[in-house]
Amino acid sequence: MSSTFFIPAVNIMGLGCLDEAMQAIRKYGFLKALIVTDAGLAKAGLATQIAGLLVEQGIDSVVFDGAKPNPTVSNVESGLAILRERQCDFVISLGGGSPHDCAKGIALCATNGGHISDYEGVDRSKHPQLPLIAINTTAGTASEMTRFCIITDEVRHVKMAIVDRNVTPLLSVNDPAMMAKMPKSLTAATGMDALTHAIEAYVSTAATPITDACALKAMSLIAGYLRRAVDDGSDMEARENMAYAQFLAGMAFNNASLGFVHAMAHQLGGFYDLPHGVCNAVLLPHVQSFNAAVCPARLTDVAHAMGADIRGLAPEQGARAAIDAIRTLAGSIDIPPGLTALGVKEEDFPVLAANALKDACGLTNPRPADQAQIEDIFRRAL
Ligand SMILES: [Fe+2]
Repeated sequence: MSSTFFIPAVNIMGLGCLDEAMQAIRKYGFLKALIVTDAGLAKAGLATQIAGLLVEQGIDSVVFDGAKPNPTVSNVESGLAILRERQCDFVISLGGGSPHDCAKGIALCATNGGHISDYEGVDRSKHPQLPLIAINTTAGTASEMTRFCIITDEVRHVKMAIVDRNVTPLLSVNDPAMMAKMPKSLTAATGMDALTHAIEAYVSTAATPITDACALKAMSLIAGYLRRAVDDGSDMEARENMAYAQFLAGMAFNNASLGFVHAMAHQLGGFYDLPHGVCNAVLLPHVQSFNAAVCPARLTDVAHAMGADIRGLAPEQGARAAIDAIRTLAGSIDIPPGLTALGVKEEDFPVLAANALKDACGLTNPRPADQAQIEDIFRRAL
């Protein structure tokens, strides 16, 4: 089977790497950045800090702080209008998945024209996006280094999955010093998102030896450091290892893709405006219980990577050990026990399941499912 491996050309990471990143940005020769961020990070002074560092490199910038959690079509359009009006020649995304995805939408439309919904699906754009540099402040989505861009259509209440090689950032920056202030709940949710990326990529029908290596290392780092990062946000060893873990998980799913956890979580996020990582964390054990019928050996590897003792276990027992390890980790960092706690209603399952089956992320789930089976997984997750 042939495969293509996508990753940004340059990736700068590690504690204190922001200075090195700024020098790297100068060498591209850009003149004016549109800094795409969210209102919280702008208020905390982070966008001003980056703008100041850019001035030191001789680069002008304009801040757009309108990337909402679960960024929308109108967020993309607002940012694009500022980019055009102020004649920016590159984009910097600053934040977690939401600013990165919003910035990808802006940068893609800036060079391809049209409406962001024109690019829903796989590789629909014709031209490379405006150069995008992604400075990450969470350890989870890996959007700073992927070709995935998730934008909510606020009219249809659905999340559009734009999977396009042209939205891959030019440069990704992961400095754990910028992650130290993440609140506990965000650290937990984004960390479980990264675990979901690693596990879905590992059991994916498109997994390769390269993605397997990335996914397994990500799982062991997350099992070893996520709880520490949640318990003490200033534990920089834990923060740095989580930054590497989420990047490795991104390398895995950017190339092996995902599965029904993400296909289903996207619907919950779009319909109820719920946090992506929490939706994944709640669904993950239920989807893997469904998958255990076809990939128990792979799930046994997951259990082993997460530190479970799998000696002497039959594959079915190993799969159960993986699901137990996921539940134990989620419980230890206060992930809600089920969808009921998130306000999800059973009467919405038919439409949520129908839309999940249309989501491109489900195509590589190891076990196919029909409408009734997806609804059943939602019900078990209540
Ligand atoms: Fe995700």
